[in-house]
Amino acid sequence: MTEPVADRAPVFERLPDPPAWADLEAFAALDREAFAADGLTAGNLRLVSLAGRLYIARLEGQVAGQAVVLGRLDGPGAFLLGLAVGRVWRGRQVGRGLLRFVLADLAAAEAPFLELTVDPANTPAVTLYEKEGFHRERLVPDLLGPGKPRLIMRRSLP
Ligand SMILES: CC(C)(COP(=O)(O)OP(=O)(O)OC[C@H]1O[C@@H](n2cnc3c(N)ncnc32)[C@H](O)[C@@H]1OP(=O)(O)O)[C@@H](O)C(=O)NCCC(=O)NCCS
Repeated sequence: MTEPVADRAPVFERLPDPPAWADLEAFAALDREAFAADGLTAGNLRLVSLAGRLYIARLEGQVAGQAVVLGRLDGPGAFLLGLAVGRVWRGRQVGRGLLRFVLADLAAAEAPFLELTVDPANTPAVTLYEKEGFHRERLVPDLLGPGKPRLIMRRSLP
């Protein structure tokens, strides 16, 4: 039988409050795959959801991508804590689609900009962010610890 076309295109959503536990578990598994020991657990994601926004991309019935956005108390703008696509789903426009969905959602919430940090050696991510309108703000040596620099990038909204 032929697979429905809709199943081959990712569907993007902001998780509701409360999120389904199965989605948080799948989200956490992706986080672990992408960020290893720095990945968030399902419990921590639930806590983050109380103060931020969680987004997923579903593809072929699975959670294929995820993003975490936090607000800030010390100024305007939102902060992209993480964006990841499962290894088997990469290179299929899931990351770009999810990022665009997040940007549209934050623009609708009237956030003035979205900021993020990224490993400057992470070519796939830096390239994606630049293509989607983020500019390089500054490089912070040792931001994540000795020998772990991060590039700070920002994009105005909408
Ligand atoms: C970065 C990441 C989210 C990209 O997701 P993806 O779904 O594979 O990316 P897409 O298919 O949507 O590609 C969009 C653009 O990203 C860039 N890109 C993606 N993979 C790339 C690669 N391996 N090398 C260079 N550029 C790449 C390209 O510019 C691409 O545009 P194009 O298709 O017009 O060439 C994914 O590689 C990932 O999850 N990496 C691990 C987690 C991570 O590093 N997250 C960022 C932390 S800040």
